[in-house]
Amino acid sequence: MKLFVDTGDLEEVRQAAEWGILDGVTTNPTLIAKTGKGFRETVLKICELVPNGDISAEVVATDYDTMLKEALEISSWNPQIVVKVPLIEPGIRLVSTLADKGIRTNVTLVFSLSQALMAAKAGATYISNFVGRVDDMSDDGMDAVVDTVRMVQEYGFESEVLVASVRHPLHVVQAIQAGAHVSTMPLKIMQMLFKHPLTDSGLKRFLDDWNAAGLSIFEKASV
Ligand code: E4P
Repeated sequence: MKLFVDTGDLEEVRQAAEWGILDGVTTNPTLIAKTGKGFRETVLKICELVPNGDISAEVVATDYDTMLKEALEISSWNPQIVVKVPLIEPGIRLVSTLADKGIRTNVTLVFSLSQALMAAKAGATYISNFVGRVDDMSDDGMDAVVDTVRMVQEYGFESEVLVASVRHPLHVVQAIQAGAHVSTMPLKIMQMLFKHPLTDSGLKRFLDDWNAAGLSIFEKASV
């Protein structure tokens, strides 16, 4: 499963990229607005920090003609960019147009299987299925992910299912169990994926025993 970090913060991208396990970055208008910096400069710096990654950058118009202009502009900045498009009628028309032109898309704000079908049929590269926002409404956001993965497999769609709006590590585990292709998450959640108390206590014990014995990896060879 691919791992994307969901942020516009360059320091967070840099940190996740250092681990060597990052496959891409997702941004949205809210995350970009938080940076206090320009959209183009931020997206291009993210591309530099994750040179082989897919970087999602979102259009903000809601009518087809303006969305198309924005999409062509954004995609011209760097081949790594995947144009993020909301799941509205002009958005699906836009995804079809961009697919014909070979421009990759990430359809966002997908909450149901019927919406996912529209995105898959239009030729979306990624279908961003939001889970946390559904959980926040006392429903199970992961249900649509499970159904969407099954639909993509059964009908042979080329779209990849991207689990978004991830709130905790269990969402990531459930995304793996559902067979989702990608999971995007805030850096804080990615850091939590490393954690286990038995790792911490186990490492402490190893190091205490090693140090108590006065050992060193770099000791001189005995003659
Ligand atoms: C994904 O592409 C979205 O930017 C993101 O996952 C939304 O998450 P939120 O519901 O925590 O805002």
